[in-house]
Amino acid sequence: MKTLIATIALALMPAAVLAQEAPASEKPRWSLAIHGGAGTLSRDAMTPEKEAEYEAMLQTALDAGAKVLADGGDAMDAVKAAVIIMEDSPLFNAGKGAVLTWDGDAELDASIMDGRDRSAGAIAGVRTVKNPILLADRVRTDSPHVMLVGEGAEQFALEKGFAVTPQSYFITPMRLDALERMKAKQLSALDVDLKFGTVGAVALDQKGNMAAATSTGGMTGKRWGRVGDAPVIGAGTYADNRACAVSATGWGEYFLRVGVAHEICARLRGVKEFNALTAESDGAAALQPEEAEYIADSVMADVKDLGGDGGVILVTPEGHAVFSFNTTGMYRGRATSDGVNEVAIFGSEDKVSSTPDH
Ligand code: GLY
Repeated sequence: MKTLIATIALALMPAAVLAQEAPASEKPRWSLAIHGGAGTLSRDAMTPEKEAEYEAMLQTALDAGAKVLADGGDAMDAVKAAVIIMEDSPLFNAGKGAVLTWDGDAELDASIMDGRDRSAGAIAGVRTVKNPILLADRVRTDSPHVMLVGEGAEQFALEKGFAVTPQSYFITPMRLDALERMKAKQLSALDVDLKFGTVGAVALDQKGNMAAATSTGGMTGKRWGRVGDAPVIGAGTYADNRACAVSATGWGEYFLRVGVAHEICARLRGVKEFNALTAESDGAAALQPEEAEYIADSVMADVKDLGGDGGVILVTPEGHAVFSFNTTGMYRGRATSDGVNEVAIFGSEDKVSSTPDH
């Protein structure tokens, strides 16, 4: 009966009520989560030096975003600050160090979304822009479009004053070697990379606004203008102040088919609306971390059922920072106004749980 009443009340609720901005929290709080890709990651296959190198770079990206939020800055600026650092690092599959196409080029995809108004920008198949996330944001703020691809996106970048970066900047020996091994042994992208390496960040700022950003080189040996989930709003990236901000990493074809980022946000919004209708106080209407974790896990289970691998990061209006991945590891980190500040790589580590307490 309670469910029936809630359903009827929801149907009668005016759209304006459902679309309102996130209420200002009594105690300003902020939250940030980042990822640098998910995949087959194990301590046995990684030297201690490499592990330390990845952790240090994740920490640098996390600190950059966290500083913006701790200083009272915008979630949009925080996610860009974190993603730019990972795009500039050759360790991750984005910007410098992106995986290479079948023809040996770096072709970059990125997207960004502002949870305040759900404005979004995305680019795909770009070869000459050092920080693709900044070009995606420029599409959002300085064009009437959401997504630009290939030569058109390059033309837009030129017109907006982005410097032309040569391909040699992006291409690293590690990615050339992966492409050569793939071609020589006719391996799949997963066999040569063992991880996806896409980077992303999601943030909640002190004003209650949320943002999500994702950037990638895609998959090794991609051909025919292949585009994955990372630049597709709703698949690899989504932000909505009413529910959550999500960034994904993984086998893009499956994330596209599930519409992962929007699916998580839509389910969370439904739970929030239901809680609001049935709760006896405002506090009881808030999302619980278990609810966010359950929904992220169930959407990732859907990806797995189709045959896909990968993971997601998300933050909620309450400041919960959640990870969910169906791979053995995910490069990741999170920081919050409650003093949480941690990075991790492997699935079994306690220091960043996939069931965080907030
Ligand atoms: N998730 C990145 C890609 O599939 O391109």
